[in-house]
Amino acid sequence: TPKKRFRFLRTLWRVTYISLLAGVGYTAYTVWELNHPPEQLDPDPKKKTLVILGTGWGSVSLLKNLDTENYNVVVVSPRNYFLFTPLLPSCTTGTIEHRSIMEPIRNILRHKKAKVSYYEAECTKIDYAKKIVYAKDNSEIKGDNMETEIPFDMLVVGVGAENATFGIPGVREHGCFLKEVGDAQKIRKRIMDCVETATFKDQPAEEVKRLLHMVVVGGGPTGVEFAGELQDFFQEDLLKWVPQIRDDFHVSLVEALPNVLPMFSKQLIEYTESSFKEEHIEIRTKTMVKNVTDKFIEAEVQQPDGTKKLETIPYGLLVWATGNALRPVVKDLMTQIPAQAKARRGLEVNEYLVVNGTENIWGVGDCAVANYAPTAQVAAQEGAFLARLFNTMAKTDAIEDELRDLSAKQATTAGDERNAILGEIRERQRQLRRIKQIGPFQYSHQGSLAYIGAEKAVADVSWFSGNIASGGTLTYLFWKSAYLSMCFSARNRILVAFDWTKAKFFGRDVSRE
Ligand code: FAD
Ligand code: NAI
Repeated sequence: TPKKRFRFLRTLWRVTYISLLAGVGYTAYTVWELNHPPEQLDPDPKKKTLVILGTGWGSVSLLKNLDTENYNVVVVSPRNYFLFTPLLPSCTTGTIEHRSIMEPIRNILRHKKAKVSYYEAECTKIDYAKKIVYAKDNSEIKGDNMETEIPFDMLVVGVGAENATFGIPGVREHGCFLKEVGDAQKIRKRIMDCVETATFKDQPAEEVKRLLHMVVVGGGPTGVEFAGELQDFFQEDLLKWVPQIRDDFHVSLVEALPNVLPMFSKQLIEYTESSFKEEHIEIRTKTMVKNVTDKFIEAEVQQPDGTKKLETIPYGLLVWATGNALRPVVKDLMTQIPAQAKARRGLEVNEYLVVNGTENIWGVGDCAVANYAPTAQVAAQEGAFLARLFNTMAKTDAIEDELRDLSAKQATTAGDERNAILGEIRERQRQLRRIKQIGPFQYSHQGSLAYIGAEKAVADVSWFSGNIASGGTLTYLFWKSAYLSMCFSARNRILVAFDWTKAKFFGRDVSRE
């Protein structure tokens, strides 16, 4: 009836109005809070010094959840920001601007209850026996003092990993990696350089083909996501502004194994491969790159009959995404600890993330081996676990101190007062037992997500005790909303949403900075 309809519309309007008000209120509060950091407690020399290496997924998740008033916290990292890596492939083509996925570490630390020292430096060595971290300022501007020693009581190593090249000649000199902001900027520049050079007056046809051949080595999620983003850039923007490259621009994904995305389910691998075919991205599986020169790669291709053939593939842009390797500082630490003698892939840690063979060093993220894949999801959960562990340890220490005082006091008292103290001691002991019940680290896998281009994504998502595999445009919308909600701060979320909208309406910027 019209009356009922009116009531329904009125309720709908009220709900929308209240939600809008709540949204505006929340955003206003977030912005106010961001701009008004509170007074912070000073470091207390009586407390233990906790040194944290790195400002990536593991270390920042730890810092976010840590009660910093319990320790003197010192952070050492050459990168003074946190980087939301899942959206880094989108920065290579300008779908997202790199600053939108960076969160300054100073903002994060300034909002902690007690002051945290931050040094923009690279840890060059960890002396396990002396409990000292050596740090060096490797930035462009250096002061008179550019090297320092930082003693620690507790140390968290969260330095991540570097790019694996397997010693293949020419990779470092001629290829681009995709791990840091600088890598994404370099790729963005090179894509446009290749396009502009290919359209240079009287460029020979063969050279045009070479310059416009974009080769991605490594069919893991990094390589797949980048290939998808690059083909989108070509289809949606480059073709419009530089139509003469239509027949020559070509993206190839080279993978040594028989298929791409080995960590996804079989049906999603097939879906990705067929989508790439539709998008005209060439997948070359069973092709292992052995050598790289400035203009071509040499790869060993396995033929259908099992024999191997060496092939030369010319390229204009080469993006190398073949996974992780150990950082030298981690390798060096491993050589100092006999229990790490057999470790190969990283610092071996126990179920509490303590580096095996040590008592006061913990490992998080890609530099540690805890039987999980080296992902942001794992690193973030490990960091949050360590924060819980350290917060608990601090509470335990405080209660143990109190217990010592109470025991000393009850020895010198008698009668009712003594009984009261004994009651307090029992209460503290109960508290201590409860707190000490913190279990070992348990990883909860939420699923794997990857963008595959043309507004499609693939997702293997854990659902209760099962798994849901899906691919397509709906999954892409899920991918977008999931990553938007996972961005570090409200500021990042707003900037990313703005970048997406900007790219949709005005296209990506094709200027070469
Ligand atoms: P990082 O995040 O790499 O941080 C390492 C930190 O240590 C950095 O701050 C670095 O500057 C610092 N550091 C380096 N050397 C030193 C030193 N000597 N001394 C002190 N500090 C040092 N995972 C997912 O789960 N989902 C995704 O969608 C996803 N997408 C990705 C996309 C890309 C392009 C890449 C490259 C990775 C992606 N990952 C994803 C993987 C994820 O980013 C890593 O697993 C995660 O970053 C590991 O966290 P971490 O803290 O160990 O290391
Ligand atoms: P990866 O280790 O997952 O894949 C690298 C691929 O390169 C492998 O398939 C390997 O066979 C191939 N390869 C190695 N050497 C080669 C050669 N010489 N020639 C041809 N192919 C060669 O590496 P990636 O993609 O960099 O990922 C690193 C980690 O980050 C993984 O744990 C991954 O799960 C995680 N990640 C997750 C993402 C997501 O969930 N969306 C996105 C990006 C990374």
